[in-house]
Amino acid sequence: MRASCRRKSWKRFTSLYRASQAALSATCREGCLPLTEIPVDAAAGEDYNRGSKKEQRRTEMSAQQVTYTFESRKEADTDRLGQLLSGYLQPGTVITLDGDLGAGKTRFSQGFARAIGIAEHVNSPTFTIIKEYEGDHLPFYHMDMYRISQEEADELGLEDYFYGTGVSLIEWSSLIADLLPPDRLAITISLMEDQSRVFHLTPYGLPYEIWCLQMKENGHLQ
Ligand SMILES: Nc1ncnc2c1ncn2[C@@H]1O[C@H](COP(=O)(O)OP(=O)(O)O)[C@@H](O)[C@H]1O
Ligand SMILES: [Mg+2]
Repeated sequence: MRASCRRKSWKRFTSLYRASQAALSATCREGCLPLTEIPVDAAAGEDYNRGSKKEQRRTEMSAQQVTYTFESRKEADTDRLGQLLSGYLQPGTVITLDGDLGAGKTRFSQGFARAIGIAEHVNSPTFTIIKEYEGDHLPFYHMDMYRISQEEADELGLEDYFYGTGVSLIEWSSLIADLLPPDRLAITISLMEDQSRVFHLTPYGLPYEIWCLQMKENGHLQ
């Protein structure tokens, strides 16, 4: 990359970072600490990713989390969201999908899978829990936690997926909330009376905040 391009990318990154911090502060309720000032008791020695400290921190963070929305009036709109997100993926990307039965979680996963170059038809992985696919650039792990027990979830070795080389998409992630990584893009789909869908996107962690801010800047998210 040429030096001027690098400078331009860095300038854009820092301006998006500042915007993300400003957005977070703006939504911060009175008396609530900005993200950077939330005390995390690292000395407690508890595994941050699996223990109650993570839960505590997530609860604190959720009080000031920004949520963006994307309206899908037809299936092609849902595919479009998958295409937009596919432009941002990295090894270790985690996207969670929640919403009632029939909301469109699996339908979203299918469009997303196509967008990342998976030719195979992606079905609901309800009975296998995790299905693995080879995408154009990254492996894709499609998960469905609808029928999982806590013991099974603990034994799946989810961290190998979440911190591995691929992209994880997790339907019914709320059922394994305590096993989710702190950084992730949480999507909840609401089915409206007129059959349209509203996707609520909540980014946890800087990379996901930047994705959402960029998509908002480009007019794709509200
Ligand atoms: N805008 C839309 N986005 C996603 N799915 C839609 C949309 N409009 C209609 N549908 C239909 O809604 C159904 C959603 O089912 P599915 O994705 O299996 O739900 P879930 O996995 O959330 O239980 C599919 O049959 C799909 O064709
Ligand atoms: Mg499904």
